[in-house]
Amino acid sequence: MSFFADALKRIKPSPTIAISGKARELKAAGRDVIGLAAGEPDFDTPDNIKEAAINAIRRGETKYTAVDGIPELKAAICRKFKRENGLDYKPSQITVGTGGKQVLYNALMATLNPGDEVIIPAPYWVSYPDIVLLAGATPVTVKTRPEDGYKLTAAALEKAITPKTKWLIFNSPSNPTGAAYSHADIKALTDVLLKHPQVWVLTDDMYEHLVYDDFVFATPAQVEPRLYERTLTMNGVSKAYCMTGWRIGYAGGPEQLIKAMGTLQSQSTTNPNTIAQWAAVEALDGPQDFIPANNKVFKERRDLVVSMLNQASGLTCPKPEGAFYVYPSCAGAIGKTTPSGKRIENDEDFVTELLEAEGVAVVHGSAFGLGPAFRISYATATSDLEEACRRIQRFCGSLR
Ligand SMILES: Cc1ncc(COP(=O)(O)O)c(C=O)c1O
Repeated sequence: MSFFADALKRIKPSPTIAISGKARELKAAGRDVIGLAAGEPDFDTPDNIKEAAINAIRRGETKYTAVDGIPELKAAICRKFKRENGLDYKPSQITVGTGGKQVLYNALMATLNPGDEVIIPAPYWVSYPDIVLLAGATPVTVKTRPEDGYKLTAAALEKAITPKTKWLIFNSPSNPTGAAYSHADIKALTDVLLKHPQVWVLTDDMYEHLVYDDFVFATPAQVEPRLYERTLTMNGVSKAYCMTGWRIGYAGGPEQLIKAMGTLQSQSTTNPNTIAQWAAVEALDGPQDFIPANNKVFKERRDLVVSMLNQASGLTCPKPEGAFYVYPSCAGAIGKTTPSGKRIENDEDFVTELLEAEGVAVVHGSAFGLGPAFRISYATATSDLEEACRRIQRFCGSLR
């Protein structure tokens, strides 16, 4: 009999962290490695946000706070939801956690029982199915198609819903594909959900601000107000405000759910870091002009990477509207052989051989539930991206 909990057998360590570890090992051994596996902006946290944290320390804001967030941050989040999403939430409908990941974890743990089903469009952010499994419930993955821009269609959603469906996890712009759902795309899905009152929506809006080419962001409770009572709108400061290490995420939703999530948090981590909460107040209330400036750089990088990857033999790379990822298909490379004589059977072989041969670290698509493909994060210096794409082209060209 194992000492460890059965629940642990249902989950696996994050594959994105595993590939980053392999890249680090090779680097330490003296190899020239370009890492394109990490999901965080390479830009530093803006100075006004850092100053707000330093001032909080100086004022002595260094104690425990209310479990699910200080009133000042909850008020700033209510203003954000109103200003940017047209959503009315009261402070009692807001919860703040240690990163978006904890908020998501709390929501699923507080609501799921064995037998419950959660619809997750694939490819997905790796934590969704594993948190559902940890809660003892069943992830129902629905594969999207490159020809639909990797977006869930109304027909596919309708087909996946059963009387046991409790949540749809919705993520736009998406990690790992960068796909972003327009107002009309969302409306098609919410029209389906209106017919199924047992299904709640957990929307992960983490990449809201990272959209390009005049794309207009929308979120389900805004598109369909009749779903407001069964939607949890999750967001955070990690990506747009370059604050991944500060660990602040939040959500707005029905009061009873928010309260249940707070109860869970009170028995695990208590309040999110006090100093980081004050920094998040400044992030949401302070100047927002660095966001379009960063986005200009991200857009140029996206265009560069998409264009260079589409010139690599055997790759096809759609141009997504958001986040900082692209998700090229490597179907054209499967079945081929490297100059060293290794046959590429699947996308995991492709990324392993690419790392070996050219020192470029990317994550295989099967880790996100849909291959053969791989994810590139373009939140990396432009010169490194250009060199990495040249190496990918050379690698693809060397396959026979
Ligand atoms: C889609 C998505 N949701 C949530 C998160 C978690 O964000 P946080 O770092 O705030 O926990 C991430 C981070 O990679 C993400 O990509």
